[in-house]
Amino acid sequence: MSSFKILWVILIILTHQALFANGMHYGKKLVPALYAFGDSSIDPGNNNNLNTPAKANAYPYGIDFNNCSTGRYSNGKTFADLIAISLGLPMPPPYLSLSETERYQLATGINYASGSCGILNSTKSGECLSLDKQIEYFTSTVKNDLPRTIHSKTKLRHYLATSIYLISIGPNDYMLNYLNPMGPNNILNPQEYANYLLEQLASRMKRIYDLGARKFVINSIGPIGCIPANVIRTQHSQDCNEDINEKIKPYSDKLPGKLKHLQTQLSGSLFSYLDSYNFFMKIRKSPEKFGFSNIWDSCIEGGKACENRKEYYFFDAAHNTEAATKIFADECFNGLKLCFPHNIKKLVHAH
Ligand SMILES: *[C@@H]1O[C@H](CO)[C@@H](O)[C@H](O)[C@H]1NC(C)=O
Ligand SMILES: *[C@@H]1O[C@H](CO)[C@@H](O)[C@H](O)[C@H]1NC(C)=O
Repeated sequence: MSSFKILWVILIILTHQALFANGMHYGKKLVPALYAFGDSSIDPGNNNNLNTPAKANAYPYGIDFNNCSTGRYSNGKTFADLIAISLGLPMPPPYLSLSETERYQLATGINYASGSCGILNSTKSGECLSLDKQIEYFTSTVKNDLPRTIHSKTKLRHYLATSIYLISIGPNDYMLNYLNPMGPNNILNPQEYANYLLEQLASRMKRIYDLGARKFVINSIGPIGCIPANVIRTQHSQDCNEDINEKIKPYSDKLPGKLKHLQTQLSGSLFSYLDSYNFFMKIRKSPEKFGFSNIWDSCIEGGKACENRKEYYFFDAAHNTEAATKIFADECFNGLKLCFPHNIKKLVHAH
């Protein structure tokens, strides 16, 4: 190779590296970072590192994620992954898989979510990261790790205030806690339990706010009486378990008011919530309009995934396919029917 050619090759490599370092590889960044907290709906593999049977690190999980079982409870990407991509960011990696060096070099966001955990410490099945523990790790990110790359206090404050904080949690506080006959909280009625959960959620949002966060996206709880694990089947028909839906509905009814109130208490804060309950009901009314031929069954049967995964709403007995998640992510990012009072695109520019 002539030295001229070698020079070109080196130049091309350097340009590639520069683009990559600027984050241009992922398109234009709309915000500095996405931090995610929650349960299996968005866990990207934290539970792989914990002592629990609640893991999604085996085939066919990840069959549409380069056929790689990362720990995501999906055939493909999660809601957190898809929102990150829309924001022009890399998918936030699982906190527990990062080395110490990676922890402080990473300034585009981290995912602390952990399958089988919930808002309450008492919600769990095996080992998982409670929301308290996730916030403890985030505290370490803010106090110990980020200051090593973002040296100026003003810059760090701006970075934290303009980033997005996604919280997707709550179903396990019903499935593994309230609806469990052995659970510690069934002395409360559904209204009281919803109030209690939302109070606990709000106090934790306040802790994230106190660390510098301002822009929150909070997932509600969908109709978990309609997940394949809970559907009531007879020989020729199937229906949601409305008894379960009635018990969990107060949570999604009360969430908007709670967040509105929280926003008035926390100066400069902005909360958007996903109305997952009502949006799922819309899909259920006319699934074919959204591209689904099956909204009742798990796509996994006998350890194998179904072929037409784009037409299935559920991937396993409790978690969505990427096709379903993508509809939620696109609607919450750009649309008017799922996320209130702002979709994420508006939230990015709001202040
Ligand atoms: C995907 O991975 C599974 C399990 O490792 C393997 O059996 C299967 O052949 C792979 N499929 C493809 C298309 O590579
Ligand atoms: C939950 O557990 C954490 C430790 O992970 C602890 O710091 C916190 O006080 C507990 N919260 C409650 C309400 O018991």
